[in-house]
Amino acid sequence: MTIKRKTPRKNSNTIGSKIGSISAAAPVKIALLGFGTVGSSVARVLAESKFSGIELTHIYNRDVERKRTSDTARCVPGSVIWTENFDDILNSGAEIVVELTGGLIPTEGWLRKCFVAGKAVVTANKQLIAYRGASLSRLAEKHNVQLMHGAAVAGGVPVIAGMLQGLSGDQITRISGILNGTCNYILSRMEAGASYAAVLADAQGLGYAEANPSADVDGVDARAKLCILSRIAMHAELDPDQVATQTISTIEAIDFAYAKELNCTIRQVSRAQLDGKLVHARVAPMLVPHASPIAWSHGTQNMVVTSGRFGGDVVFSGHGAGGEPTAVAVMSDILAVAQRSVAVQLPVRRRGVTGEFLAPHYLRFVVDDRPGIVAGIAGALAKVGANIDSLLQHPGYPKNRLPFVITTEACLTSTMEKAVASMAKLDFMLERPLCLQILTIDDKTE
Ligand SMILES: NC(=O)c1ccc[n+]([C@@H]2O[C@H](COP(=O)([O-])OP(=O)(O)OC[C@H]3O[C@@H](n4cnc5c(N)ncnc54)[C@H](OP(=O)(O)O)[C@@H]3O)[C@@H](O)[C@H]2O)c1
Repeated sequence: MTIKRKTPRKNSNTIGSKIGSISAAAPVKIALLGFGTVGSSVARVLAESKFSGIELTHIYNRDVERKRTSDTARCVPGSVIWTENFDDILNSGAEIVVELTGGLIPTEGWLRKCFVAGKAVVTANKQLIAYRGASLSRLAEKHNVQLMHGAAVAGGVPVIAGMLQGLSGDQITRISGILNGTCNYILSRMEAGASYAAVLADAQGLGYAEANPSADVDGVDARAKLCILSRIAMHAELDPDQVATQTISTIEAIDFAYAKELNCTIRQVSRAQLDGKLVHARVAPMLVPHASPIAWSHGTQNMVVTSGRFGGDVVFSGHGAGGEPTAVAVMSDILAVAQRSVAVQLPVRRRGVTGEFLAPHYLRFVVDDRPGIVAGIAGALAKVGANIDSLLQHPGYPKNRLPFVITTEACLTSTMEKAVASMAKLDFMLERPLCLQILTIDDKTE
């Protein structure tokens, strides 16, 4: 691995030109883009914590008058300029622009203009960093300014800062964890007995889930975060669209009952594992043994477990979302940039992605009961070389809609996908079998 030595360049417009620590005489000026949940929390943390040497000068938002006159704006000093014209930010004396609007467009263009103008950027935007992070980092570096995104993964849990500062000396080969608080809230409530539909409605009522929950429950949000972590921890740049995802919306209460019998619970698990020039990556609901730290996360908690060649496993956990926890991560990045803390940067390589993992599987069937069912399923598994490990059937269900479970010994994802496709066609099968991988403590890829 080649490490580039960095020589700070002189640029009178950049934060890098301010020598020494935060100076009371010359406060570092910051501008906020976006005054929503996180933006207004950052303004409040700034106002209440009174960090000396940091001055909020501008707030940008569309239809800004509505924001300026809102209750959340009460903490904002009268000296702050509210604007709905991005050029006002670009032409301002703000040295750090804090992007909290979200989305890819027009945000990416704004960040590019900020770098060219010599402004550092702090952002919490996971989609932007997952898809465009590498190219934005290169542009920031070219203009000798910093791009910080510690809040883009796991909100208030300092997983990015921890990986950059505390784990860059290791060779991280595997990341696994819970990166979406909404899914964790839904699944941990289902574990306690609630139905998917009821918990989703509660999550929407509490503001944890969007009216269209697809980005959370189908794994798109977690996949963006997994790609960011792969780049930070394993120096592997992945195309998020290549990472396989599986929805949690097909999980039912009965799956938790069977999982419990297998000493497991069910969680949406994001996994990435380095394997030469490839990365095995997947976001999917999995059976997680009660003994795994991943099973211990409840509610909206996030959890990340990294495995390093030299340092072994490290666990990060805490509040993954919410205005204030996320504002803490944003604020920490602002302070780091203002104090010119140098973030560790190691060369990143583009890596191919495969969704293949070697794992035991949990298969839940709903069948119209008749003789020969187990033989039909066993035949489909035998055809691909998969072995049955156990068969579980709870009593009390009608014979014409009978759920039961088979677990298999470890086999590859693609092997089991072939078997599921052929089992789905069996004439007694009332719905497509639910197939979940079972996390093993020493999870392998092949
Ligand atoms: N909320 C969390 O817990 C959390 C956690 C980690 C990371 N993040 C990330 O933090 C960022 C902000 O999230 P948030 O929850 O604060 O979102 P939010 O509540 O929707 O706030 C976004 C703000 O930006 C404004 N905005 C959006 N697009 C704009 C545009 N094109 N031009 C001008 N103003 C625009 C919105 O105005 P309107 O009011 O008009 O829509 C709103 O005030 C996102 O990237 C998100 O992924 C959030």
